[in-house]
Amino acid sequence: MDRPIAYDKLAREDRFVRMRAREVSDLRADQGLPRFPDLATREAIRERVHGIMVGELQAMEGAGRTVYDFPDAPWEFTLDMARQVWDESRHVEIYLGLLDHLGGYVGEFPETTILWRCACAEDAAARVAGVNRGLEGLACDVFNQLIHIAQKIGDPILERAVDFVLADEITHVRMGSRWLNELTRDDPERRRRAIEFQESIDERFNLGGTRLDGAHQEVPISIAKEARRLAGFTDEEIERLVRSTQRSPVY
Ligand SMILES: [Fe+2]
Ligand SMILES: [Fe+2]
Repeated sequence: MDRPIAYDKLAREDRFVRMRAREVSDLRADQGLPRFPDLATREAIRERVHGIMVGELQAMEGAGRTVYDFPDAPWEFTLDMARQVWDESRHVEIYLGLLDHLGGYVGEFPETTILWRCACAEDAAARVAGVNRGLEGLACDVFNQLIHIAQKIGDPILERAVDFVLADEITHVRMGSRWLNELTRDDPERRRRAIEFQESIDERFNLGGTRLDGAHQEVPISIAKEARRLAGFTDEEIERLVRSTQRSPVY
């Protein structure tokens, strides 16, 4: 595998502003804001939608990179990853439209590259575990919550657009589950390392109690148990995720 593209070398138009996630979080704290934007106001929702839009962009780049990085992978794996590039590119367009709908614009908030950095694992099995199951499982949580909040504030455009994207993300998680199993079928050690990588990503996104098992209006990110079941997570995995959010942050 060639060396992955450094996070600060991803091609962007000048209007994008790139910053480290840690720096953004510290700047928010310095201004008396929560480290991670909640969804309590329309402005906070706009900031979240901007964050998702750049996440979709990096998800598209990550899936494209996976097509390129593993030429010896099964053909159907490559086809799934190529299909995912296409899905993610539509998601970018949908979120650009939503940003416009909410009165925002590209570059209004910084882009962090935490997703891209998670997408650079050197093993294909670790990558689908970390990205498709870890990060896109997180996307299921975030989108499910956003749909509920859009219903509550009476914004059917936001509600339906995010629902369309959630349907795709559920299929991406399922793809991750399928390929994690198939790529590691005869190699339990490889499987163990891939799952460990996914769990390290799950832990990272529980940082500071951001993701919790709670009411959509009350926690920054609520765990979407039903959407996760549809995506192929077992009840045991969902319970483990809930338990992990109750531990004190390790970072
Ligand atoms: Fe997406
Ligand atoms: Fe996705």
